Amino acid sequence: MRASTLELVRNAQDHGYAVPAFNIVDEVSLRALIEAAEAADSPVIIQVSLKTARSIGVELVGAMFDSAVRGTSVKAALHLDHCPDLAWINKVIDARWSSVLFDASDRDFDRAVAETAQVVRAAHAVGVEVETEIENIVGVEDGVGSDVLVHSYSPESLVQAAEDCGADLLAPQLGTAHGEYSGRPSLLPGRVREIRALTDKPVVLHGGTGLTQAEFRLLIAAGVSKINISTDLKRTYMRAAHKFLIDAAERDEWDPPSMFRSVSGAVRAMATHYFDLFGSAGQASGSTRA
Ligand code: 13P
Repeated sequence: MRASTLELVRNAQDHGYAVPAFNIVDEVSLRALIEAAEAADSPVIIQVSLKTARSIGVELVGAMFDSAVRGTSVKAALHLDHCPDLAWINKVIDARWSSVLFDASDRDFDRAVAETAQVVRAAHAVGVEVETEIENIVGVEDGVGSDVLVHSYSPESLVQAAEDCGADLLAPQLGTAHGEYSGRPSLLPGRVREIRALTDKPVVLHGGTGLTQAEFRLLIAAGVSKINISTDLKRTYMRAAHKFLIDAAERDEWDPPSMFRSVSGAVRAMATHYFDLFGSAGQASGSTRA
């Protein structure tokens, strides 16, 4: 069963923790996350970049997700990450994923708000939720985004825009960036508090990879309730595969399922770490809104 992203994140908001949203790359990473979430009794958001959705296909991703979740007690939502392309947004809405991030941060303000309102109308008509991003979060994620700040607005304008277009979750600039950090980021927990004082809409943190425990705790305490992790999953996945292949070459044994098991173990350990760190572990069974 596909859970509501908004319901998972609102429960986190009400109880002072954050739901991790991991970008999967294939069926191995997807199943590993569901298994880890079940073991930790944590809600989880399975995110898919536009690049991955294009390469696997919207239908197959949906079928893989349903198959991975079936027969488990996991509360998992299926979410399309940064998508500036209206045709793909509509495909995913038609396929009834839990939610989409319509990334309008490359448009000017008026066009971004008008197009987001259009997406929200189409999505809500069939029960799909919408995360809005009209300021760009620095860094390129799977081919989408920019390394420089293009659009930035006041918290008041951001919240007004989200209210006007009826979006469910809000992704503002919070000093983080997608990908690896070369220096320490200047985080903006005060901005989270300002936005939270203006709206009940959950605030999403992008660019989670590379933040310290203390930085995550600061941002969760300020009011962030969905945290995106992509680079760490890719790194964890590829390092486990690399290590396995070096050993395989030494032994001259070439068994792909053994490599998938090894990668799965590494991804499960990574996910468990974030469930503990974000306070989501143990929260799935009791997760109806207070
Ligand atoms: P990282 O790649 O820095 O973990 O960011 C993930 C993200 O924000 C996906 O939208």
